[in-house]
Amino acid sequence: MIEVIDVWFTYPDGTTALRGISLRIRDGESVAIMGENGAGKTTLVKHFNGLLKPEKGLVLVDGINTKETSVARLARKVGLVFQNPDHQLFSTTVEDEVKFALKNLGFSSEEIKERVDWVLKFLDLERYRERSPLSLSGGERKRVALASVLCVKPKILVLDEPTIGQDAKQKRKLGELLKKYQEEKNTVIVVTHDVEFASKYFNRIVVMARGKIIADGPPNKVLTNPTILEESSLSPPQVTVLSHEIAKKINNFPKDIVLFDELLNEIITRIRR
Ligand SMILES: Nc1ncnc2c1ncn2[C@@H]1O[C@H](COP(=O)(O)OP(=O)(O)O)[C@@H](O)[C@H]1O
Ligand SMILES: [Mg+2]
Repeated sequence: MIEVIDVWFTYPDGTTALRGISLRIRDGESVAIMGENGAGKTTLVKHFNGLLKPEKGLVLVDGINTKETSVARLARKVGLVFQNPDHQLFSTTVEDEVKFALKNLGFSSEEIKERVDWVLKFLDLERYRERSPLSLSGGERKRVALASVLCVKPKILVLDEPTIGQDAKQKRKLGELLKKYQEEKNTVIVVTHDVEFASKYFNRIVVMARGKIIADGPPNKVLTNPTILEESSLSPPQVTVLSHEIAKKINNFPKDIVLFDELLNEIITRIRR
């Protein structure tokens, strides 16, 4: 479990990025953190693995105060995949990139081999095994960065903007993979602007604006609320836009729909009536 208790954070140049954040994320949850650029999302998730420490307030990971432990000790529990993969990649081959993290954490060579094979297959990266990460596309590099974190099998997996640079098929695969990982009793947290991705694969949406949390709830409550969307510069899911248009013309048509299948069922039920 991650507990964030009234956390404030200011960068050395004086920019205050977090202004009293309180948040509890339980084991096995899937959470999407959303909000406009500069809202403080990246700053917040860097607190989850101790990369940044609160200036005021507390972050507890399974009861451990991040101020009183090291990033290395938290790394087995909390895996963070950066927004920009180039900050994470430095090995000469994809295989070495993945191996590096495992070696660092002291896994045996058999276990390393097993995990490297598993993760490269899982993320569709086998054919790039011997390639330099730098020779890959932005989207592929992002998957290598994910591989180097996922191979540790952290109980809490955090991804900052994972869908950028991924095509529709890769995005779907990523969504399904994260869902599967979460269903294996892990916690999955993403930072994303993608309302469709968030509503399809995540059960809880946390919206940030100007260093604060302005909304926290299920997708069909948060991503259909015009005030919240406006305040955080998010566009509603296409399905929500359509259901709102229908609701203008059809009495009692629900306005809290975010998923395609939900909308389809609603329409079919009404046609049959
Ligand atoms: N290294 C840094 N030094 C100074 N200010 C920063 C730094 N990183 C982020 N900021 C500022 O902190 C605020 C929050 O940034 P960030 O957490 O990156 O937001 P988000 O991820 O939501 O776009 C912004 O005003 C940003 O300009
Ligand atoms: Mg960010």
